Amino acid sequence: MEKFVIQGGKKLKGEIITSGAKNSVLPILAASIMSNKKSIIHNIPVLQDVKTMVKILEYLGAKVSFKNHTVEIDPSGINRYDAPYEFVKTMRASIALLGPMVARSGKAQFSLPGGCVIGPRPIDLHIKGLQRLGVDVKIEDGYVIADAKKGLKGNHVFLGGTFGSSVLATANVMCAAVLAKGTTIIEFAACEPEVSDLANFLVKMGAKITGIGSPCITIKGVKKLDGVEYSVIPDRIEAGTFVLAGAITGGNVCVKKCQPFHMGAFIERITETGVSVETGKNFISIKGIREWKSVDVVTLAYPGFPTDLQAQMMAFLSLADGVSVITEKVFPERFIHAGELNRLGANIQLDGPRAIVRGVKKLLGARVMASDLRASAALVLAGLAADGTTEVSRIYHLFRGYENFDKKLNQLGADIKKEKDTIQ
Ligand code: EPZ
Repeated sequence: MEKFVIQGGKKLKGEIITSGAKNSVLPILAASIMSNKKSIIHNIPVLQDVKTMVKILEYLGAKVSFKNHTVEIDPSGINRYDAPYEFVKTMRASIALLGPMVARSGKAQFSLPGGCVIGPRPIDLHIKGLQRLGVDVKIEDGYVIADAKKGLKGNHVFLGGTFGSSVLATANVMCAAVLAKGTTIIEFAACEPEVSDLANFLVKMGAKITGIGSPCITIKGVKKLDGVEYSVIPDRIEAGTFVLAGAITGGNVCVKKCQPFHMGAFIERITETGVSVETGKNFISIKGIREWKSVDVVTLAYPGFPTDLQAQMMAFLSLADGVSVITEKVFPERFIHAGELNRLGANIQLDGPRAIVRGVKKLLGARVMASDLRASAALVLAGLAADGTTEVSRIYHLFRGYENFDKKLNQLGADIKKEKDTIQ
């Protein structure tokens, strides 16, 4: 196992280039199996989750090459329709293959994703949506067994759940609807930019989709899809993480090749703290300040404040002047990072889906443990600002979703070393 050893207190300055969006790449690679023609997809970040998705596609029988941030996939050899537990347990997002597989083969046998540290990861909306399209779905021995015996038929599908819309349920139902007979209307669809990116990829393949980016998507079924060349959008969560790295160290950082218009809620909240933010068509630059104000944050589905930036924002607000209340409306249990931030001297109390963050004057370096992708990023950000040395163990969580995270931060003047870890 490896750990990061971070010498805190360095003001970050300079520019970084955002990588492609992990949460676009995974459903787009999954959707590419809906054609038997080859697709070429660019701007793919080198991440553990992408490598896992490539492995699953090869297991299914596709020919895949992944080099220089481009994936070439030839799905014509796919001769399986199952995704075994060993794959799904390492990456819940493998469930993004369910809809495309049912669309391609009329059936699928996928291990249930199970829960993770950010909370239970139910798939009731995925199942309900596919059933509305005529798919028989049953759960047996921890597997989802889907069978569209009489083919897929377009229908009206309502996809709102207790916690609002669902990104990957929208992706799955949209993919299945693309090759269904007739028209499907998805009401309460997720509006995340990554869902729009997937829809644009499908349209390029020949799908007929309107209402992209809105909570109501209409899909007219087509008979077949073509292979295409496509480039995914930049990763707004990585971009926001680096903006916060600049802000928490009081530095000046410019994040390039990102899309600020996908980050409105985040930019509004961080501006409210008093830091100065300048945005252009494809950059965000931040001029950090010595003291920033506390703000309240509520995470919501897009265009609300993204839950995937909640942990990183909590690290930043742990040093704010005043008390911030962070309310998690998407994953109410997504606070595992709070305990570890308190080990660095933060003062955070949890109260159900709320975290009360009382700003402290400084954080003190300590040994902390990463536990999930975004929680790990929050601990690194806190370590950048803490006095002294912070060691973050189990950094493999980070490599799932951030390309060259330490290298990019060191390019901005951070002092992060990767070392062998005694903690397993
Ligand atoms: C996607 O997960 C992202 N992952 C997550 O990013 C992100 O946090 C999440 O959307 C919310 O934006 C990928 O795109 C690969 P959801 P997804 O279904 O689709 C509940 C990261 O760090 N729900 O939108 O699995 C669910 O429990 C990852 O990059 C149901 O109740 O999330 C949650 O409370 C973490 N029933 C809410 O909906 C369902 O059938 C939103 O979850 C499905 C979800």
